[in-house]
Amino acid sequence: MSLANMRDLILRAKEERRAVGAFSVSSIDMILGVVAAAEELNTPVILQVAESRLDVSPLRVLGAAMRAAAEQARVPVAVHLDHGVTFGCIRQALDCGFTSVMFDGSRLPLEENIARTREVIAMARPYGAAVEAEIGSVGKTESGEAAPAVCADPAEGIRFARETGVDALAVAIGNAHGVYVGSPNLRFEVLEEMRRGCDTPFVLHGGTGISDDDFRRAIALGMGKINIATATFIAAYQAAQESSDYFDMSRRMTAAARGVAQRHIPIFGLAGQKEA
Ligand code: 13P
Repeated sequence: MSLANMRDLILRAKEERRAVGAFSVSSIDMILGVVAAAEELNTPVILQVAESRLDVSPLRVLGAAMRAAAEQARVPVAVHLDHGVTFGCIRQALDCGFTSVMFDGSRLPLEENIARTREVIAMARPYGAAVEAEIGSVGKTESGEAAPAVCADPAEGIRFARETGVDALAVAIGNAHGVYVGSPNLRFEVLEEMRRGCDTPFVLHGGTGISDDDFRRAIALGMGKINIATATFIAAYQAAQESSDYFDMSRRMTAAARGVAQRHIPIFGLAGQKEA
């Protein structure tokens, strides 16, 4: 049984100066592809699904499959709710056995984001689940709707981390979900400033399209979890278009998800391979 807690995975990654890849999945094909890549590279991984995607992949079905895959994996796998917005959905994920949940209060005023994140932490505690929150606002929603990218204010971020004690903090530094128009211009100085005031592991959203060098720089500044979604969805869609029948499509989609995870995981660093 290899179902793991996200908190443990990220803390260990931080010690080893790497980040854990968190791959968004929407079907059994994708789940199998991501887990196969992690097993091949012998490295922990996070499977995640966002609340906004549950109309296509209901939690009671997809969540159960994510959990089953994690339990049977040969490497530690955490199962995470990405961008949880409603308390009802967060509770459902916890009841499904998710080992971590994100509360996305990034569009709320700071005080309210702090208060509601604390409520989610209290809700998750009896389950032993970890909690991720967001400060500043990552551009575009996870489901592709337009939304402005608001860079985090470091002082507010430090205050947020201290007052909530959250396990992982998504820090918006000019990153955005979906496909970037041009190269993203990440504000690393925000991370540097936040790192001086708090020790909380950070999370980088909007991983699709970020360069290898920027990934490495972000990891060196404390990004312990990196989210990849669009790259997998694009690759799976392309694979589906090239397929000859349903089962060929399913196999190709698994291979596509596996390829995306295989490409990113080594950039984020492999477990047990700490650089000197
Ligand atoms: P991308 O879709 O840009 O890879 O972002 C993933 C993400 O941050 C999910 O929350």
